[in-house]
Amino acid sequence: MKIITGNWKMNGSVAELEIMINAMQSINTKNKVIICVPFTMLGKKSDKISIGAQDVSSHENGAYTGEVSAKMLMDANAEYVIVGHSERRQYHSETNDTVKQKAKCAIESGLIPIICIGETMEEKQAGKTMKIIESGLRESIPADVKADVIVAYEPRWAIGADLTPTIDEISKTHTFIANILENMGLTGTPILYGASVNGSNAAEIMSIPNVDGVLVGGASLKPDNFLPIIESV
Ligand code: 13P
Repeated sequence: MKIITGNWKMNGSVAELEIMINAMQSINTKNKVIICVPFTMLGKKSDKISIGAQDVSSHENGAYTGEVSAKMLMDANAEYVIVGHSERRQYHSETNDTVKQKAKCAIESGLIPIICIGETMEEKQAGKTMKIIESGLRESIPADVKADVIVAYEPRWAIGADLTPTIDEISKTHTFIANILENMGLTGTPILYGASVNGSNAAEIMSIPNVDGVLVGGASLKPDNFLPIIESV
């Protein structure tokens, strides 16, 4: 069983989510399918797809205009929430510390956080990939977490770029992540790979040890592109 997760980012509509949910009825898969949608598309329920959000407030409730709390996401039928996506880190200055706070709020409300980590091209070229991954894991995952969390490794330079690391690079980083998680007492935490996954590369990427699924951006928006990824494994 693999975890195939779509991240719709700021795309789609309620009608398009309904089309995706309907299209899913036609496939028979043992994989876990999650789609993380903008807040306005939450509220839907499907027996084939779990719904998630893409961000959550780091506060429980109160005077935080424009923010949405973990409890509100639960109230809108979300089961998962992406935290610390690189676009949040880049455009909203989220740090590992903010991400940890958000993940903590999610866990305390019963949501499963999908915690994203990954290096920029500059960091990669400076040979800092493993260092960024290790600090991302140790600083973004709340300490003593007993609840389920999912980790997503997204090399930031490969997102939306139609380019992926080599199979050997993905293998090395995912093994490194699995070892750090084991050292943190989180053995068995699913590790997703994300960045430029599509119907042509998904099966090979998911055959790599310690790749428990994928986090898909652009190719998750339309059933024609997303269903082949789900059916590829
Ligand atoms: P793409 O699949 O469009 O590269 O996006 C990856 C991503 O950011 C998923 O969260």
